[in-house]
Amino acid sequence: MNGKPNYGMQSGNLQSPDQNFLGRTLSGSHYLEVLKNFHRYLQPRTYLEIGTNTGSSLDYVECPTIAIDPRFILKTSATGNRPATFFFQTTSDLFFRNHDPIRLLNDNIDLAFLDGLHEAEALLRDFYNTEKYCNTNSIIVLHDCVPTHRSMLSRADNGGGWTGDVWKVVCILKEYRPDINIHTYDAAPTGLVCCTNLNPNSTSLRDNYSDIWKKWSKIDMESYGYEKYITECDIESTNLIASSEEIRRYYWL
Ligand SMILES: C[S@@+](CC[C@H](N)C(=O)[O-])C[C@H]1O[C@@H](n2cnc3c(N)ncnc32)[C@H](O)[C@@H]1O
Repeated sequence: MNGKPNYGMQSGNLQSPDQNFLGRTLSGSHYLEVLKNFHRYLQPRTYLEIGTNTGSSLDYVECPTIAIDPRFILKTSATGNRPATFFFQTTSDLFFRNHDPIRLLNDNIDLAFLDGLHEAEALLRDFYNTEKYCNTNSIIVLHDCVPTHRSMLSRADNGGGWTGDVWKVVCILKEYRPDINIHTYDAAPTGLVCCTNLNPNSTSLRDNYSDIWKKWSKIDMESYGYEKYITECDIESTNLIASSEEIRRYYWL
């Protein structure tokens, strides 16, 4: 087993390197393959997804599910093999304002994938709003926290390969919630961050939201330092969670 992350340094024309390339590519397993393994090997009883889009991250899910997106463009079966699927065509903020996931699912959220609006403050709200309905061992997976190119970092949606500034949430969680176990994986193309040892009763992110955002709205990747961020992420290889036995070493529901 190779626990080292798969980084690729820039390849291609050495005479005209891309100045906007941030110095890493992530070549672990594709993020959908990793998520599929979480479902296959851990068999969560319930799943919540923020940001469904065409449904690629819903396709393989077989447990009762809540899917939230202000604009679904489903290209997959709406029902799949799931006993129940609740679609909410709204923003995640409005969903949490108006609905109780536990009432819908008859259970806490076992696994969540947060892949909605790629603005750090929105992901931060998605995180604490989701955690409230989780168990300690539930897993909240964040997408797009490892940008590899400057063009991905814009806060305005620039289409494909857009990560926005959600990477800040990893720093915020480490600072304000050191109790959470965070693993960042080299899942292609822009990483997966898996959070467990959650505390549904914690209010520190919610209570400090204004102060957190006052500080972090002024910081960008340039001022924070990409290499510093990558080092702090301590990126691990998706090889470490490729089989049932391996994944269960780190996660159990
Ligand atoms: C990157 S796509 C999700 C991709 C999908 N999870 C996948 O893996 O194929 C992001 C989605 O977030 C949705 N979105 C944008 N703003 C949102 C919000 N405020 N709340 C929830 N979803 C939002 C967009 O409509 C878009 O469909």
